Amino acid sequence: MTLFIASDHGGFELKEEIKSFLSQKNILFDDLGTHTTESVNYPELAQKISQKVLENPSKNRGILLCGSGIGVSIAANRHKGIRAALVDSVTLAHLSREHNDANILCMGGRIIGKEVAFEIVTTFLNTEFQGGRHQTRVELIEEY
Ligand code: RB5
Repeated sequence: MTLFIASDHGGFELKEEIKSFLSQKNILFDDLGTHTTESVNYPELAQKISQKVLENPSKNRGILLCGSGIGVSIAANRHKGIRAALVDSVTLAHLSREHNDANILCMGGRIIGKEVAFEIVTTFLNTEFQGGRHQTRVELIEEY
């Protein structure tokens, strides 16, 4: 797995916290920006990370943040092969992987506290897709 991380200015602070957390856990990642709190357009970051994840959609993973998480999740899901899940709990992180084979985790930097975000990230990275009946459903999405 190659892990990418990106945010707009609204998710920048949480992105930096998550980067420290990942580094402490010796988890490698590639930070695609933004690199300051200056205002940027979230669809551009969503496009950047989606393109990277699509280089190997079943293996690569992304963590994508904006203020609410909503804008980036809408934008990322416009890319065929991306299954971006807007998550605000460990339960949803778990289900996004087990049932939906989500390849991008979206969160709101102005919504979620860092400790919850760390648990969500851990769950997202460590939960396998269940396949079976969920595989059929994911394939139906990919046929759109
Ligand atoms: C930026 O102000 C904000 O609109 C953005 O981070 C995000 O919340 C959009 O959905």
